[in-house]
Parts: sequence; structure tokens; C-alpha cells
Amino acid sequence: MSSRTPLIAGNWKMHKTGFQAVEAASQLKRLVEDAADVQVMLAPAFSALFQVAQALKGSNVAVGAQNLHWEKQGAFTGEVSSEMLVEAGCTHVIIGHSERRLFFGETDASVNRKIQAALSAGLIPVFCIGETEAQREAGETFSVLDKQVRDGLKDFVFDDLSGIVVAYEPVWAIGTGKTASREQAQEAHQFIRSLLDTLFGKPFASAVRILYGGSVKPDNVRALMEMPDVDGALVGGASLDPETFSKLVFFNN
Ligand code: PGA
Repeated sequence: MSSRTPLIAGNWKMHKTGFQAVEAASQLKRLVEDAADVQVMLAPAFSALFQVAQALKGSNVAVGAQNLHWEKQGAFTGEVSSEMLVEAGCTHVIIGHSERRLFFGETDASVNRKIQAALSAGLIPVFCIGETEAQREAGETFSVLDKQVRDGLKDFVFDDLSGIVVAYEPVWAIGTGKTASREQAQEAHQFIRSLLDTLFGKPFASAVRILYGGSVKPDNVRALMEMPDVDGALVGGASLDPETFSKLVFFNN
């Protein structure tokens, strides 16, 4: 395991109404109140952010959004700005999740603008990258990751990016029950870290946290977390039930 403080992040996607989200978040808050040396973050739907942030006030569970718009305000029907997220109580925001890339036309260029917007508002971006099954089978995993990282972080310098979190999520492992083996995860994480070293230098690359995402469950989390470049998990399905999610937070027990 790495010396970086692990982050276990739950992405609730389009699940849970405000009331359901508050109930689950309050339960999680109690379950993880004694968690030490680990950070926890929950990303509910936009409509539940404010309520969940209120329910988690003063706890060790941070709140994140699942997306944002890069502009501060304007005629962008259906979009939400960084300032709105901050006021709702968010400290984090997931950017470039594969479902947004796949279903909503998110590109490396829009991801880049969103990372910029998040950082200027003081939000911690959780920058998601990952290859599809076809890309892996074609031997393109590293070239895909290389492009996503270079273009997603284009025009940034080391200082701008402090605090950013990267999430490696092989698309073929998301919601499929097919987890990458811990060796596959480590290999991708190592590749990403060495690319970040090339682009931004060693102090940045050795401090940045790289989360693994894709069918993380209580029975595989520990093995993944034992790998030297795996610094946490971005969890979909297994974050919906507070009991199950709390087992991921206590991966070390
Ligand atoms: P999963 O989702 O844990 O359900 O595979 C991960 C994610 O999409 O972040």
C-alpha cells in the first residue's frame, strides 16, 4: 500500500431521491465515524447535494458532485456551475466519468475545461480516465490513457493541479462485475503515475492519488489496495448500501 492517504469515494449515479440519499448518508456517517487514515467521499445526484451535505456536516464524509459546467453562469439549460456546487456543500467533483463520455458527449477538451473550472472554485476534481474493452483487446490501453491524461490536463502546470485526484476506471469493469486484476490495475496506475511524472514532475506524481474504479466490492478491495500505486477506490454499485460501502472504507480491517 502507498503512503498517500487513501480516498474511498462513492458515486451514486442516478440513484436515490433526496430523502433516500439523506437516510443512506446519515447511516454511513454513523458507520464510518471511527475510520482513521482514510478519506471518504459521497457523490449523490445534484438534487440531493444540499440535503446530504447538511446531513454530513461535521462528519468525516465529504460530498462531491458527479459533474459540473465549466462556465460560472449563463444560458446553459440543465447545467450546474462550480459556484452552485460549492454553495450546496461540495468539496469534490467527479469529472469525465466514462458514462458522461459515452452517453453525454463528454470529450477530453470539455473535461479539461471542467477541471479548470473546478480548481478555480476550490473544488477537488476526481478526473476519470479508462479504456473500453475493444481498446484493451486492440492493445491500445496505454495510448488511450496517455491521450486522456495529456488532453485532460492540457495547459496546466504543476501548481494548478494540487489536490487533484485521478481515477482509473477501465470501462469494461464498470457495473459489469468484471474487476481488473490487481496486476492490471497496478500496471495502469504505474503507467499513469509515470506519465504524470513526465508531464508535471516527481513531487506532483508521487503525491497525486490514483483511485481504481470498476466493480470494487468488499471481497476485492483489500487486494487492490495492497498494490503500491492504488490509492483508493471510486465505487458505483457497492456504494449504494451504507453497510457494504462502510466495509470498503474499513478495507484494512
Ligand atoms: P461500479 O461503478 O463500482 O458499479 O462498477 C464504478 C464507477 O462507475 O465509478
